[in-house]
This record gives sequence, C-alpha cells and structure tokens, in this order.
Amino acid sequence: MGSGVVFLMFTCFSMAGSEIHTLEYIYTALSKPVEVPGVYEFTAMGILDNEQIDYYNSKEKTKIPRQTWMSQRLDGNYWDKGTSSRKSKEQWFKVNVEILMNRMNHSKGGLHVLQWRHGCQGEPQPDGTLAFRDGFDQYSYDGGDFLSFDPKHLQWVAPVSQARATKRKWDDSQTLNQYTEGYLKRECMDWLTKFMGYGEKGLKNQPAPGVYPHAKTTKTPGKVILHCLVTGLHTRDVEVDIYRNDDNMTEADGVTSTGIRPSEFSADGTMAKTYQLKKSIEILKSDLDIYRYKVTYRGDVTAAGKWEAPKLEGGHAAIICGVLLVVFIIILGIVAVLFRKKISENCISVLRSFGSKDTVTTDGSSNPTDTEMEKQNLTNGEPNGISVPEAEKLKSANGHADV
Ligand SMILES: *[C@@H]1O[C@H](CO)[C@@H](O)[C@H](O)[C@H]1NC(C)=O
Ligand SMILES: *[C@@H]1O[C@H](CO)[C@@H](O)[C@H](O)[C@H]1NC(C)=O
Repeated sequence: MGSGVVFLMFTCFSMAGSEIHTLEYIYTALSKPVEVPGVYEFTAMGILDNEQIDYYNSKEKTKIPRQTWMSQRLDGNYWDKGTSSRKSKEQWFKVNVEILMNRMNHSKGGLHVLQWRHGCQGEPQPDGTLAFRDGFDQYSYDGGDFLSFDPKHLQWVAPVSQARATKRKWDDSQTLNQYTEGYLKRECMDWLTKFMGYGEKGLKNQPAPGVYPHAKTTKTPGKVILHCLVTGLHTRDVEVDIYRNDDNMTEADGVTSTGIRPSEFSADGTMAKTYQLKKSIEILKSDLDIYRYKVTYRGDVTAAGKWEAPKLEGGHAAIICGVLLVVFIIILGIVAVLFRKKISENCISVLRSFGSKDTVTTDGSSNPTDTEMEKQNLTNGEPNGISVPEAEKLKSANGHADV
C-alpha cells in the first residue's frame, strides 16, 4: 500500500511538471440552417485547455465570454473587434462551403459541414514562460480532413484530391504561409500566455473546492452507496478516483458519475461560475474492503481519504436515529398538547370548515446535496463551433483567400 501511495504521488508530480497548455479556435459552418434547437448555421468558439472561453453563433451574432475572467480581463474593444471578425468569418464560410460543395459534386440544397480549427500548444519552462510546442491549422469537410498546414515546411497538405487546387492557390502566397506560421508560433502563443495568466490569477483567489464524501443506505437491503461529491470547481479539470483497497475502480466495477455539471451561473446566466461532480459506488454493507477517494483538481491532489466502514456508519446511523426518535417523540407530545388545546377552542369552526380541509404536504427527506445536483441544467445548447481572436487578422490581412 505504501508503494502505491508513493507511485500515485510520483505520477501526480511528474504530470504537473510537464503540463501542456492549448489554445484552440473552432469554426463550424453548415451549408444551410437546420431546425434543431441549439444548432446554428455558423458557430465559433475559443477553447483553453478544454474549457470554452468565448462563443459566437449566427443567430446572436455577438462574440461573448464564456469564463468570468474573460469578461473581467478583456474590455469592450476586444469583444467588439471579435464580433466583427466573427461576422466576416461567417461570410467567408458561407461562400466557401458552397465552393466546396460544387467541387465535391454535391447537389445544391444538401446539408454539408465545413470546419476550421487552429491553435497552439505551449510547454511551461523553468522560468515560468510557455514555449511553443506545436501548432495546427486545419480544415475539414463533412468530418473528413480537407487541408492542413505543415508549420515545419511552411506549406499546406492536401489529403484529398479535391483539396489540391486550394493547396496550390494558398502555397502560391508565401506571405500568407509565413503569416500562418507567425500566427501559430507567436501571436497564438502570446494569447495563450495572456489567457493562462488571466485564468491563473482568477483561480488563485478562488476558494478550494468542497469535497463531501458520504455513505447512504439504499432501497436494496444490505447495501450502501458511497458518494464523493466535489463542488465549487472553477474549471472542469477535475478527476475523482475511487479505490477499493489499492485498486482503481472503473465503470466496469460499478462506479457511476454525474459527469461534470455547472452548479452556479453568472448573474446574467450565460457562464458557468462553478461546476460539480459526484461519483458513487454501491457496495455490500458487509463489505470489509477499504474504500478510498482521491480528488485531483488542476493537476494537484486536493483531497484524499476513506469512507467510514459501513458497519461504523450503521452504528452512527443507529445513534442518530435514536436521537431523532427522542426528539420526534418530544415534538409529538408538544403538538398533541397544543392541538388538544386548539381543538377545544376552535371545535365548532373546525367542524364548519370540515368540507374544505387543506391538503397537508410533507417534505420528502431528500438529501440536500442530491437536491442540489438535480437542479443543475445547462442553459444554452453549445453546438460544436469554435474561433480564435487574432487569427482573424491572419487571413483577412490577405483577404482570407477562398478555397
Ligand atoms: C465532378 O464531376 C466532374 C464532371 O462530371 C468530374 O470531372 C469530377 O471528377 C467530379 N468530381 C468528383 C469529386 O466526383
Ligand atoms: C482510475 O480509473 C479511471 C476510470 O477508468 C481513470 O479515468 C483514471 O485515470 C484512473 N486513475 C488513475 C490514477 O489511474
């Protein structure tokens, strides 16, 4: 067991040391509108380490922040410029999805998808800066690779014959290719560094997440459910592992998860302020194995511990039940005395109103944390569209050449 712990800590540190950060923008255009709620003809979004940071769609036509720190740290000018840049990209996609449909001999009126993703990856250096590690800029049509930029050789790669014409056209402009390389290696990295800084500073002032392990009896006699609820998460970068003795339990072993869900929203309801996650496993009350949880948040183990043995928990439950029973009997006694008094006082009026008696509602004694979990609902559908701030300049500087 000791070596297991050492091993876990080692992997944890070695992962934290080489944490790669990614800034990515994704733009998705459909060839025609579809009647599906939450799906738009054009969507764009920025993603920082798997977290959406901004969003745009063809309905609202406004680039909006998706992280509180984005709205706090970037001024109106940033969002205005971003909005007009996204609007012009929306036009570019409209024209170019049609060009591609023609080239593919796809009939007019069909539903097709053109997507553009670009971004960069940075690796933390000992001096705290981020060094460029990789960059990508690629287009896909109907989910298949269409064209991608090779930053090493400063040229476009065409995996399908229909993309060759575009490759020739774009490679013809070395200025454009140098701009693309410059964007990925410098501009994108500058934004990545800036955003990481904003996010970190924002996160440093945030309280640590709340970790609530608890055991509950179930409807099935002889069984208990062990829950580990983690709340107040400011990013989705969280993992909850459940161990039986030293074995990492998986879904195949019966671990269930709520998934990471928003739990608090910003005042205007558009951004998730915090997230929560609950993992559970049902076990036999008689199970003598040791069950432990481990919460890894943003690369660090923030909480680890074990659940009380079910038998002990049963003992606690018996004591609590006993106390509650005594309290209940006392309350019952008081109510009975008051009720009698009231009956004698209001006997006649009670009899009169007999025909219109109120329905008494009893509160289900649901676990408060479970109630909280059920309330959560995603407000906006988030289709898979994406976009980058300054990459926008990238091709518009050269008129964002058509395919
Ligand atoms: C589209 O049709 C033209 C003319 O019929 C043909 O030359 C071309 O190969 C076709 N392209 C594809 C992608 O099927
Ligand atoms: C434990 O298992 C889960 C589910 O298979 C997995 O996601 C997680 O990475 C594992 N954790 C460790 C520390 O191996």
